[in-house]
Amino acid sequence: MTTNKKECETKKFRKYNIQLEQIQRIHYQDPKVNELIKNNQPVLITNSSLVKSACEKWNTDFFEKYLGKINHTVYLSNDHNFKYFDEKKVLSETNPKGVEFTPKTRRLDMEMSEFIKKVKEWKSGDERLYLQHTLNATMGNAIVADYVKFDWRFAGEIRQKNNWGELTSNVLFISMEGNVTPCHYDEQQNLFAQIQGYKRCILFPPNQFECLYPHPVYHPHDRQSMVDFDKPDYSKYPKFKDVKGCETVIGPGDVLYIPIYWWHHVESSMEGGPTITVNFWYKGSPTTIEYPLKDYQKVSIMRNVEKMLLEVLQDPKEVGPLLRKMVDGRYTNP
Ligand code: SIN
Ligand code: FE
Repeated sequence: MTTNKKECETKKFRKYNIQLEQIQRIHYQDPKVNELIKNNQPVLITNSSLVKSACEKWNTDFFEKYLGKINHTVYLSNDHNFKYFDEKKVLSETNPKGVEFTPKTRRLDMEMSEFIKKVKEWKSGDERLYLQHTLNATMGNAIVADYVKFDWRFAGEIRQKNNWGELTSNVLFISMEGNVTPCHYDEQQNLFAQIQGYKRCILFPPNQFECLYPHPVYHPHDRQSMVDFDKPDYSKYPKFKDVKGCETVIGPGDVLYIPIYWWHHVESSMEGGPTITVNFWYKGSPTTIEYPLKDYQKVSIMRNVEKMLLEVLQDPKEVGPLLRKMVDGRYTNP
């Protein structure tokens, strides 16, 4: 099972003023798939059986029947954006070095049946819900049976050919219509497998770093863009005008390769009911330094410089001014 371009185009998504090319849709047996993955380039892989066992069955009724009584992690938000934050970086009594921060989402543990009831009864003005829970053996035999039938050989071959590290997790995402995961990057390789409904994914390469204005590394929104895509503040973030990316719409059976350190903004179609996705997160390949450095390696270096400076300066407020002092007038006007 897989979707075609026409089906995808008819779905309803938000409008953004960004220059975007289309990500290539390529049949899973075509050698071009691996050419792109090898070069850390995104590709939409069609017709694979990676999550076929789930596409045929997994929907909210099925989950309600088989997962009713286990607690799941659900995020709640007053608007459609679910911007991730790292709780370990938020100021608290036990974390005096954290950053003062008021989160826009909250996390709740909820039984699947309660989550589904809330989604079904949801009306405009209510908090939106987004379930994001790591698949594991406690999820019951019915789910585990389908999970075991995922095409592990296919995933394993991609991993092996590209020298990726171990599989770290499979996260199950069940989203309400119209939810958005705002633009961010992850430090892992991702095979993003769509099971139900349609998601539009906008990706940007690591070299778009300056145009996307990531929060500082110590901030709870580390790895997230500061730019609000709904109403970009071009006076604060002028280079966002120049940002260039690529996009695609994924439907049941499609697998999107999101390369490590690539920015991604993901939104569920505004119609057609809840969407279901499972991701396959793999550690990147062990770093062998070859020159010239790749763009994502430069991002990794910048992260390490920020982390080292924070460790020695002790105060997050000193990191930016020190970096500016180092560069301004010397490296900016050589
Ligand atoms: C999403 O599906 O909403 C987010 C997925 C991701 O960030 O990897
Ligand atoms: Fe992500």
